[in-house]
Amino acid sequence: MLRVNRTAALSLLIISSSVFLLFQLYYYRKYVSKTAPHVQSRTGQLTSSDLHLQTVRMFLALVRRYRLPVFLADTAALTLLSQDALQHRDWLVQDLHCKFLCTNRPIISFALLANAWKFDPGFLSAAEQKGFELLQLRGTDPRLASLDTLSGEEIPLHFLLRCHRYIIQVVFLYERSGNYLWHGPLRLKPNMDRSFAPFKMLDYGRHAGAYDRLELVLTVLDGLDVRVPRNVSRFLSEQQNSHFLECHYRDARNFLQLYPDDSSSAAVDFRRKAKSLLHLASQTLAELNIPFWLSSGTCLGWFRQCSIISYSHDVDIGIFITDFSSNIVTAFRDAGLSLKHKFGKVEDSLELSFMSDDVKLDIFFFYKDGDVIWNGGTQAKSGKKFKYIFPQFSLCWAELLDMKVRVPCETLDYVLANYGPSWSIPVMSWDWKSSPSNVQENGMWPPKEWVDVIQVY
Ligand SMILES: *[C@@H]1O[C@H](CO)[C@@H](O)[C@H](O)[C@H]1NC(C)=O
Repeated sequence: MLRVNRTAALSLLIISSSVFLLFQLYYYRKYVSKTAPHVQSRTGQLTSSDLHLQTVRMFLALVRRYRLPVFLADTAALTLLSQDALQHRDWLVQDLHCKFLCTNRPIISFALLANAWKFDPGFLSAAEQKGFELLQLRGTDPRLASLDTLSGEEIPLHFLLRCHRYIIQVVFLYERSGNYLWHGPLRLKPNMDRSFAPFKMLDYGRHAGAYDRLELVLTVLDGLDVRVPRNVSRFLSEQQNSHFLECHYRDARNFLQLYPDDSSSAAVDFRRKAKSLLHLASQTLAELNIPFWLSSGTCLGWFRQCSIISYSHDVDIGIFITDFSSNIVTAFRDAGLSLKHKFGKVEDSLELSFMSDDVKLDIFFFYKDGDVIWNGGTQAKSGKKFKYIFPQFSLCWAELLDMKVRVPCETLDYVLANYGPSWSIPVMSWDWKSSPSNVQENGMWPPKEWVDVIQVY
């Protein structure tokens, strides 16, 4: 009796658990797998990454509906993507997990190509209807600022959309006249909610940024259609060094009111030639992948008057000696310039000068030494060496003569070191051996080395 009961109970148990198992399988196939990845975790609750993915999906649906020209610009997600591409895994195949878009951060950033965008207020109200809270940050349009006009017109710079405490940052990228993309800094107005987002964690907005125009590709990430930069690693490295400095147009205008620009035909001619020489140098060095910055008088011209100093007669650029390549001379010759002189050597005080028309391009090579950075000078007739010492600096982007160029980020310190506290007063007669505030005598080249270190053509 007892035995029969036990068998029956066991059979019943097996049957009922099998039925339950079958039901679970059926349920899983019918519901869960179809609606994954945004449904449950093992505990049956929405995890934060499910919520994040759901929020991004909602945002991308709005993007499609209102044709926002956006692409994924999030450094964490793009880093995962580039690492994945490096490992040759097939990230184009739809993946059920949230592998790229959920990055443990409560933020994701997209960039919007503002020139291809037409504002539709419907987007904002649709976003609000979907449960997004919105913070719009606007700022003055730098494309209208110049020496002649200081426009006060405001444009959108950043949108922050918040849902489930998850932030979607939309960075507006504008095309500037120098054929590059620019985004503004994110600055909260006094009446704005400082707790709206973890602002310190945002990828964009600590300062303005400049980027080359880029190619985008449409791909599928975590089951969502999203545009990404074609060359993700290039975009990420640009992002690291994107800091952009606006010229101080207001100060430059004040300067030019005190010291009006020379409008003689010789001065106009020089500025035109200097501009084309700078374009040529920029192109040539870009092909060699060598970063350069505006130095000496050319840097002062940008900083003080947002243009070229017409009585300077040359264009000065700086290059870190660690970026030196022996191809530089050939590349500039191929670009139509002639080498005028070569002073110093790679190990010490290297300096190259090229001529184009009657304008000289001086390339100074900079050496790091402890907490200073210096470049050298050489007097051809005496073999005397000079040294110009600068405090450490990093490089930022700026615009000069419709061109994206680098300048020392700590421009004032750089200019102060070179020109002293009266840098804002024009000096017509300048002696490179004695006028700079930071010049030091640095001994002599040994006569037996002259043939190498003093080459004049
Ligand atoms: C991506 O950009 C990097 C750095 O600019 C470059 O070295 C690389 O060749 C590019 N990759 C492709 C596939 O174009």
